[in-house]
Amino acid sequence: MKTTAAANANIAVIKYWGRRNEELILPNNNSISFTMDSQLETLTTVEFSEKLKRDELDIDGKTATEKELKRASKFLDVVRKMAGKKMFAKIDSINTFPKAAGLASSASSFAAMAAAASKAIGIRLNEKELSALARRGSGSASRSIYGGAVEWLAGVKDDGSDCYAVPLASYEKWKDLRNVIAITNSHEKKVSSTDGMKITTRTSPLYPARLSSVEKRLAVVREAIKENDFEMMAPAIMQESNNMHAVMLDSTPPVIYLNSTSFKIIEKVIELNDSYGRPVAAYTFDAGPNAHIYTTKKYEKEVSEILEHMNGIEKIMVCKVGEGVRYLEKHLF
Ligand code: DP6
Repeated sequence: MKTTAAANANIAVIKYWGRRNEELILPNNNSISFTMDSQLETLTTVEFSEKLKRDELDIDGKTATEKELKRASKFLDVVRKMAGKKMFAKIDSINTFPKAAGLASSASSFAAMAAAASKAIGIRLNEKELSALARRGSGSASRSIYGGAVEWLAGVKDDGSDCYAVPLASYEKWKDLRNVIAITNSHEKKVSSTDGMKITTRTSPLYPARLSSVEKRLAVVREAIKENDFEMMAPAIMQESNNMHAVMLDSTPPVIYLNSTSFKIIEKVIELNDSYGRPVAAYTFDAGPNAHIYTTKKYEKEVSEILEHMNGIEKIMVCKVGEGVRYLEKHLF
């Protein structure tokens, strides 16, 4: 059966950076994110067929590279194993935003692929199982199954059976939250997240300190999400981003994703918060130089205007919190 699913990217406020199991993609710490609206969306159609000799993958209308195909096939092997079937699949995937530019396209891609492929091959999964499956493609994809605020539980079991994401708050509860995104470089990143986190966990002397301090930030953010309290959450978001990029820089060789514009944006957000005497905006950066400035509806314009006056920014987008994975009637092929 041909099946199409859509999923949106999520942008973490408490980050996943480092795995306790490489093969099963089990992280070292819990992470928390907000799922974005459909401006950061991936649509994926999957069809399994006895006639195919290998998996076929198109991304954004072009034949995927061997590397992309290999990663997708590895993921489909997990799906095939679950279903006890051997057929190959044809996959078409479309992103509404530049892939691999630090805008978390692997999260929306593998969340959409997990939903479409599992249904297409005939297995029924609940959301928890779907989240655990999406995780096998890309860790952060486990969180894109749900809308709103989401926590990915690291779990402790070796087989990963307690490692999946759970919803923390609906997107209606956080409907006033905004992510003002400043694209400072839309080109594909040089070091993938998978490689970058390996270098950090293996070489950064500061990494163990990150793992012990992240627990405190997780607790603050969890509480703030429950209480719908942006001011409580904002300082923890910025500390968390700084901390992750500090352990990246502490690695050998250093893993550097931020550029000079990223740092200028950090300064501008600090100035803005100082001018109000309280946090009205919070920056966070993933494995890329693009800034995600979380703020509320009230300050969205002011944040955008600050960015519009800066050099080095290619594009500004304002995202709201969005919904989780969904199935569509219309197919891509
Ligand atoms: C910095 O989920 O892209 O965005 O599991 O190797 O696919 P893989 O990594 P990925 O890493 C995301 C890292 C991050 C932080 C986060 O989203 O939590």
